[in-house]
Amino acid sequence: MPKTARGARLALALLASVFALPAAALGASDDGGLSPLERLGKRIFEDASLSRPAGVSCASCHDAATAFQGVNGSPVPAVARGSLPSSLGKRNTPTIMYASFAPPFAFIEEKDEKTGKVEKIPAGGQFHDGRAADLLAQFEGPLLDPLEMNAPSKRFAVEAIRDGAYAPLVREVYGEKIFDDPDRAFEKVAQAVVAYESSARFHPFASKFDDFLRGTAKLTPVEQKGFALFKDPKKGNCLACHAGKQESRDPQDWLFTDFTYDALGAPKNTAIAATASAPDLGLCKRPGLEKIAPAGFDVASVCGAFKVPTLRNVAVTGPYLHNGVFQKLRDVVAFYATRDTDPARWYPKGEKFNDLPAEDHGNVNTNEGPYDRKPGQKPRLSETDIDAIVAFLETLTDRPAAK
Ligand code: HEC
Ligand code: HEC
Repeated sequence: MPKTARGARLALALLASVFALPAAALGASDDGGLSPLERLGKRIFEDASLSRPAGVSCASCHDAATAFQGVNGSPVPAVARGSLPSSLGKRNTPTIMYASFAPPFAFIEEKDEKTGKVEKIPAGGQFHDGRAADLLAQFEGPLLDPLEMNAPSKRFAVEAIRDGAYAPLVREVYGEKIFDDPDRAFEKVAQAVVAYESSARFHPFASKFDDFLRGTAKLTPVEQKGFALFKDPKKGNCLACHAGKQESRDPQDWLFTDFTYDALGAPKNTAIAATASAPDLGLCKRPGLEKIAPAGFDVASVCGAFKVPTLRNVAVTGPYLHNGVFQKLRDVVAFYATRDTDPARWYPKGEKFNDLPAEDHGNVNTNEGPYDRKPGQKPRLSETDIDAIVAFLETLTDRPAAK
């Protein structure tokens, strides 16, 4: 943000309004480094009066203490509780750190390494199924979702903000007339939240791995081994989807996702009531997918596909996968290694891909490493390899922001 005279005046005015209100109401204790717009976004993000009944904010499920992930005290670790105590969600809450780097949902060109053929594949967007094009479109989702914040309308949220403690801050940032047009006010409120979600607080690049890239820290031998296995196409092959630019030492080139979609065949999580009889098919049920898809794209071929998540902070964001079926990070890595060589370890009676209807089993990726094995074959990763990859993944945790 350019430091103009106007900006300085605005900052002073904001400072004055901050002192005029009780600090607790503003959550002003850890505003360090945020611009006025980002600070406003933080207020809205933490505002529990936007839900019905009041009590749940974005921060209830996206807790800064756990890399902006959480379940709002849900009795089922895989799915969050909404503002109605009986409401449990359908999917695992992802971390929203580094989410601002996801490009808008679109079909992008990808060249098949082997055949050289160029294909159009879905990528980007927000949510496990990319159903919000970007962060701005995403904002109203949880707000209006009956299972999450259950706000009856956008206007309801705007009025709660207008009548709430930090309304002066909204007027400072957006002008005195901001509440006159509720639709415009809602758009502006969403923009402030996106500004906060796009602030450095959500992408500090402050992990041991980042220090390693910058040349200020060394990986231990085990972490180094894990990193090598992670990259090796014949071993973990993890980099194929959890991408990073091999030649680059710029942390931004290492987001550990290419934001594409893939079907992993996660075991069913029987703790989720919502999917007991209605399987979660992911990307193929994304509203409007048919309309954006290029001619000839088989929508049914992406049933079971979910967005590749970033692995930054993964050690502190369990449970894992879209259905939160795994509590432990090691189990996820072991699943990759032995899903196909020892299916009985993961699926009851060894019946693979039991969270998807039989007609979608063919969509599950079985030809790319590490899960291109057959029962009885040696896994691509040994037990000590798995430990090393986990040790490497633990280097991706950001240090907590200095207060
Ligand atoms: C009750 C818990 C809950 C609340 C409250 C909540 N979220 Fe979420 N959030 C989730 C879950 C669960 C998902 C994944 C949903 C899906 O993929 O269908 C999610 C996904 C997201 C994503 C997409 C991240 C990605 O990588 O795809 C963003 C961004 C996000 N939430 C921001 C917000 C904002 C902003 C608010 C407040 C307006 C909010 N959330 C409120 C649980 C919650
Ligand atoms: C072909 C693409 C692909 C490859 C290769 C791949 N992954 Fe993934 N990974 C995904 C997708 C897609 C998901 C999300 C699946 C879901 O939610 O059902 C995922 C999820 C994960 C998660 C869970 C993250 C979370 O927040 O829930 C971890 C951990 C993970 N992968 C680690 C690895 C490791 C380690 C390797 C290499 C051994 C690897 N992945 C290889 C596509 C891939």
